[in-house]
Amino acid sequence: MTMLNDLLEEELFLPERYRSMSEEELVEKITAIKERLGEKLFIPGHHYQKDEVIQFADVSGDSLQLAQLCAANEKAEHIVFCGVHFMAETADILTNDDQTVYLPDMRAGCSMADMANIDQTERAWDALVETFGDTIIPLTYVNSTAAIKAFVGRHDGATVTSSNAHQMVEWAFTQKERILFLPDQHLGRNTAADLGIALDEMVVWDPIHEKFEYEGSMDPSRIKVILWKGHCSVHENFTVKNVEFVRETYPDMNIIVHPECPYEVVQLADVDGSTKKIIETIEQAESGTKWAIGTEMNLVNRLIAQHPDKTIISLNPYMCPCLTMNRIDMPHLLWSLESIEKGETVNVIEVDEETTKEAIAALDRMLARA
Ligand code: 13P
Ligand code: SF4
Repeated sequence: MTMLNDLLEEELFLPERYRSMSEEELVEKITAIKERLGEKLFIPGHHYQKDEVIQFADVSGDSLQLAQLCAANEKAEHIVFCGVHFMAETADILTNDDQTVYLPDMRAGCSMADMANIDQTERAWDALVETFGDTIIPLTYVNSTAAIKAFVGRHDGATVTSSNAHQMVEWAFTQKERILFLPDQHLGRNTAADLGIALDEMVVWDPIHEKFEYEGSMDPSRIKVILWKGHCSVHENFTVKNVEFVRETYPDMNIIVHPECPYEVVQLADVDGSTKKIIETIEQAESGTKWAIGTEMNLVNRLIAQHPDKTIISLNPYMCPCLTMNRIDMPHLLWSLESIEKGETVNVIEVDEETTKEAIAALDRMLARA
């Protein structure tokens, strides 16, 4: 093995000793480091994190709340982000230069964010401008790389999250005639449809084959929204068949889904919304009500445990975990915390200055309206 491989291994993979630690030892050590570091340490945890991680989070939230909380926290020197790569990058972009952001396992990516790379996006933009002229504003779901956020920032666009997508799409139409929505076609389609845009006023851009996907022949003057052909591999697993099964088997059950689910599923559901909205809806629901939830498994399991007075099931009986979110666990968290105490820089997320400058413009346009 080369020295480079050794270094990469060291950075990427959890040292063996953490794997063999007992749960009690892990809990004890993490708790002790948290106490020693006090306010110098901030641990945000996304709602999809496992309970073993959430128990140590200083705050838990959806992607918008976590971005806002990181931007507001000026005290913490070390931000150990329990979520996925794009969330940690966003935290780094929104925090000061003297604050360091860590991702406990660098392999915790997001398959949706990986579906739009910057070269594909630059090439798509050229093709779109050729077809539609200077009429397009780009919006990117925060589930995207820092490079895509920077691209959007430089073209006067903004980021969106699942909890403010409606507001941001409405804002975008005050700026330009058309929107390019990256990288989640489902969130883009669901949001635009809610705002009264017809399906035939939307077109999908396929970044692999570099062409439009459209039923019949496309009249460019009719198109209002260009949807990037990306999706979430977790939420695509909630299907119309799942909805039909629940409707037939439990006629008095409510269905609530995340807007990353396909359009047909969202149309058939009773409610749709971000992880925050799903949690609030279940919290506010009357005792005895029944809910089938279409989102990630850790969150559904937590809601089942927290609301024994309600009947809660996953909309997909085979449950859908986000494998990358699940990479963060107690051993990786302890590895990060011990490295911080030793002054080692393991699993640091650092977005370069130029990218930060442009990406922050896109994030700020959203945060100013969120
Ligand atoms: P929220 O913005 O609802 O937290 O969702 C983030 C996410 O990655 C959902 O898959
Ligand atoms: Fe990405 Fe989907 Fe996982 Fe969310 S649930 S982090 S969109 S892969």
